[in-house]
Amino acid sequence: MDVGNQIQLQQESWSFADAIGTFDQHIQLSIPNCQEQREYIATLARFFLHSQSRCYEIGVSTGALAEAVLARLPDRPVGYIGLDVEAEMVQQARRRVADPRFEALQANAVDYPFAPAQLVISYYTLQFIPLPQRERLLRRLYEILTPGGALILYEKTLAQSPQLQDMLTQLYSDFKAAQGLSASAILNKAVSLRGISMPLSLEGNQQLLQRCGFQSVELIYRAYCFAGYLAFK
Ligand SMILES: C[S@@+](CC[C@H](N)C(=O)[O-])C[C@H]1O[C@@H](n2cnc3c(N)ncnc32)[C@H](O)[C@@H]1O
Repeated sequence: MDVGNQIQLQQESWSFADAIGTFDQHIQLSIPNCQEQREYIATLARFFLHSQSRCYEIGVSTGALAEAVLARLPDRPVGYIGLDVEAEMVQQARRRVADPRFEALQANAVDYPFAPAQLVISYYTLQFIPLPQRERLLRRLYEILTPGGALILYEKTLAQSPQLQDMLTQLYSDFKAAQGLSASAILNKAVSLRGISMPLSLEGNQQLLQRCGFQSVELIYRAYCFAGYLAFK
């Protein structure tokens, strides 16, 4: 099944393993303002990462966000640990980010033994983790963050009203078509994500974060059906 960027899924379900070869190009074409928001996160990270600070990225993929964050901290001895379930993503991240402060590990964030950290970033990853596990993970992330630390969470989201959801779905299809993706690739991708991507509403994510301990949650980004939150400990 063709979902664009020469990605042929071997089965009907979306798999990051099938997409690794052209992942960078695919995510750029699929997520509005993808690199711009990585740069924005990188700037924001400077408020939390000081000498000897630790940062985790859940779903590091090929390391594009890690590269942006570390480039903004040239003089700071921090530790940046990127986790990903896909071995090949981890290898690509290691190749891309040749920085002694960076470590990429093949691990499932759901059961990874996190050490105390000042910042955790999840850039479009938690939506792929089933909700009960996502909630347990967020509770653990709240526990390992040091006071004053934060979680930067970007997710695909659902609208509160059906009318807006319908509009956003159409606008998002228009966006992808304008990026050069074919109608069949857009449709096939949506089909392949069934049961794989499990987004919550904008408010649903805010409530989930609060339930997991994050009392102060700010919306820092919103475009189409995508949102970014800054959740403080
Ligand atoms: C949309 S991509 C993340 C993009 C990346 N942050 C960037 O800036 O390029 C989601 C990534 O999360 C990984 N992933 C999915 N579930 C995971 C889990 N439970 N633990 C760790 N990584 C996971 C996938 O393999 C994939 O590489």
